[in-house]
Amino acid sequence: MSTVTQDDILKALATVKTPTGKDLVAQGWVDNISVQPGDGSGEGSGDGAAAVILTIAVPLELGDKLEPLRRQAEDVTRALPGVGRVAAVLTAQRPEPPPLNAKPRGPTKIDLPTIKHVIAIASGKGGVGKSTTTANLALALASMGLRVGVYDADIHGPSMPRMLGVRDGKPQSAGGDRAYPVIGHGLKIMSIGFMVAEDDPVIWRGPMVMGALEKLLRDVDWGDLDILLIDMPPGTGDAQLTISQKVPLSGVVIVSTPQDIALLDARKGLNMFRKVDVPILGVIENMSYHVCANCGHREEVFSHGGAQRTAEELAAEFLGELPLDIRIRATADGGAPVTVSDPNGPHAQAYKAIAKRIWEKLEHSEEGEDENPMTRLPRKPR
Ligand SMILES: Nc1ncnc2c1ncn2[C@@H]1O[C@H](COP(=O)(O)OP(=O)(O)O)[C@@H](O)[C@H]1O
Ligand SMILES: [Mg+2]
Repeated sequence: MSTVTQDDILKALATVKTPTGKDLVAQGWVDNISVQPGDGSGEGSGDGAAAVILTIAVPLELGDKLEPLRRQAEDVTRALPGVGRVAAVLTAQRPEPPPLNAKPRGPTKIDLPTIKHVIAIASGKGGVGKSTTTANLALALASMGLRVGVYDADIHGPSMPRMLGVRDGKPQSAGGDRAYPVIGHGLKIMSIGFMVAEDDPVIWRGPMVMGALEKLLRDVDWGDLDILLIDMPPGTGDAQLTISQKVPLSGVVIVSTPQDIALLDARKGLNMFRKVDVPILGVIENMSYHVCANCGHREEVFSHGGAQRTAEELAAEFLGELPLDIRIRATADGGAPVTVSDPNGPHAQAYKAIAKRIWEKLEHSEEGEDENPMTRLPRKPR
């Protein structure tokens, strides 16, 4: 099986003309080419053909007019031997990320009219269990009878396909550029992980991340949802900023471990959302304590309760705590998180209690009951 190379793709892209008459490559608009070789295992692109993601950085003001060019770039790449799925993403050429306190200019928010509430699940750093928490909270909200979507915005380490048992999921076309989300455990799921294999080292540059995140969210046919959970990338960089500025967020939930360092990072995350006027729904302490699988003895591995103190200091609500428990890890890694695989167990109960509280806060905010200006949620037009 011949494998397609970046050079092959560049040659093909050089046949695509930009509005100035130059070709795409000479114009310098090809920002990134990611080739994920197929392995014939049925994973990724399946039949041994490579999956290709093209990122084309174009002048912001031309963005709207370049859809035909984007499609042409996909077509010439798809025509190459050894190529399977192709996605071309247009991103805006933008030299500088906006400053932290920049307000979105004009009507730049993505319009998601069929979704009642969008919330972000964020953390200061990676590995604190943000994705595990997102997956379980989504399932807990669904168990309340709500229509729930999950958007995996962790472009560097997408984990929703694996945790929600849809590793082989392929979004179906909804016509034109749009795609239907993949369904797993009754949730509507979209993830860059459906495009690239989990261990593909895609190197995304700042502006590319923003363009890809926005496009992926916007072009999904979500249908009517009560709530969409966004599994945020770790940290407080460009991607987080883009989402907090461009997505009409009803609020953000911060996940933190009890270690002080992690808490410091969580504080940074919290403040970033405050600066862009996104209400903080509260803080969850994950890996809060350890329960011995044999004897039931409870051990405080890290100094437990730190998240609660931080939440209090920051005038944010403490939403609850989850233990460090092998069952939480094993079930999430196995694609059926504990909330769905052991729905009456203690961990599922904890996630459900937190989910209930979050939903209560979102719905009550519509009556404007919260008097605290730091945590008060915006009223939604009905
Ligand atoms: N409460 C928990 N108990 C045990 N393992 C956990 C718990 N929360 C997360 N993990 C495990 O820790 C690792 C990192 O969690 P993950 O949700 O991927 O973190 P993040 O999304 O913040 O990077 C995963 O292997 C996950 O299964
Ligand atoms: Mg994650």
